[in-house]
Amino acid sequence: MSSPSPTLIEQLSRYQQSHLLQFESQLSAAEKASLLSELESIDWQQLSRLVGSEDEVIDWHALARRAEPPPAFALSDRSPSITRQQAFEAGERALREGKVGFILVAGGQGTRLGFDLPKGLYPIGPISGRTLFQMHCDRVLGMSRRYGVDIPVYVMTSPATDAPTREYFESEQRCGLAADQLQVFCQGMMPAVDASTGKVLLASKSSIALSPDGHGGLVAALQKSGILQQAAERGIEYFYYAQIDNPLAQVCQPDFIGYHLLAGSQMTTQVVQKRFAEEKVGNVVSIDGRVQIIEYSDLPADVAKLQNADGSLRLWAGNIAIHVFDRSFLKSVVESAHGLPFHRAHKKVSFIDSQGQNIDPKDPNAIKFERFVFDLLPIAERAIVVEDAAQDVFAPVKNANGAAVDTPAHTQQAILDQHRRWIEAAGSSIDPGVNVEISPRWAIDATEVAEKLTTPVRFSESTFLG
Ligand code: UTP
Repeated sequence: MSSPSPTLIEQLSRYQQSHLLQFESQLSAAEKASLLSELESIDWQQLSRLVGSEDEVIDWHALARRAEPPPAFALSDRSPSITRQQAFEAGERALREGKVGFILVAGGQGTRLGFDLPKGLYPIGPISGRTLFQMHCDRVLGMSRRYGVDIPVYVMTSPATDAPTREYFESEQRCGLAADQLQVFCQGMMPAVDASTGKVLLASKSSIALSPDGHGGLVAALQKSGILQQAAERGIEYFYYAQIDNPLAQVCQPDFIGYHLLAGSQMTTQVVQKRFAEEKVGNVVSIDGRVQIIEYSDLPADVAKLQNADGSLRLWAGNIAIHVFDRSFLKSVVESAHGLPFHRAHKKVSFIDSQGQNIDPKDPNAIKFERFVFDLLPIAERAIVVEDAAQDVFAPVKNANGAAVDTPAHTQQAILDQHRRWIEAAGSSIDPGVNVEISPRWAIDATEVAEKLTTPVRFSESTFLG
């Protein structure tokens, strides 16, 4: 493609974006081709609608006043309609029958962590140095061994992380997964626009400022990549969803899957008990009969502090971004006219101006458009939440070491603490100052650790049980 097609020229003109071709005459043939392919990939009509729509003003404060606790299976339930044991057995059946696939989203830019490579390549194993990708794959391998099936793994990347992720899996023999067990697929990108003019920003003379379209880009990417169809052909009925940055996620946890099945839910979300009223987590609530998430910044303090008679928080459920979806539910969302909504975020985005000068803004200058996976919750006809203990399921790597929370050091400590609990529960011991890290290939949970350590062991040196 050596020059812009008449259709593209017409569209750019119609949507006031013709400036994107202003440096065309200065570009090499390769640069021009790359710019044109970016421009061709954009849905200009959709973008124009998003730019043109005023910020949708949702009165969260009013909504929050109607918020109720979500339909939930909580750890404190004394007489639940479905017991953990029943759920566990139902989840195990689905796993054994090969009906569960694992989706790992790894398309984010990981700006807060400040790591040059995709976050999945971060060496998080406290003793082993295993990467985040390897930790998740080991868990899948452990579960596959236990249930006698190859649980398929679908890794979502973005153009920012795709090539290094594919190279990594190739050089590491897919982290031990079978050839037909791993699929890497790429999410879409959205342009950033100038906040005052709505014009798309140029990142260079030959490229526009693009960023991944949010983890909610998953739904469209599953369809576009053909994975939704392939999963159906493979007999996958349910997807277990987790994010690359949480190596404590208990991938394909049977009881969680089982609650989803037995409750007839289309989307089930794992939650943890909030530690205090105004904790900075998304609040999973029910509003007018629909489960949804209210960001902590949108929850008025007096509502956040409401208590039950026993002193516990009324809105107690914190989102940790682990979900189970029915495949058929995702398919119905793909086929619906609207799909997931876009959110607008004011961000700092570097760009080149009309003189071709690089500008690094000090304040937010642009609007980015992102979709969020949890916007699937209110779309579901039936959605429930299942509580688990934070120490067993949630330790995300978000910030660089030195930050107050969610750093690699915090996550490593959480992993070591969990493994220490498992070993001590099995009647073995770890000397003070000594650490033991367990690979799920060796033992996947406390039960398997107890099966391995039938006679008590005293660990006096730091050890990786792999
Ligand atoms: P975060 O919202 O924490 O973003 O993503 P991030 O990109 O990892 O980190 P920051 O905000 O730039 O520091 C939560 C999860 O969603 C995935 C991320 O890879 C992570 O697993 N994600 C996020 C995507 O897959 N695509 C996106 O467009 C955004």
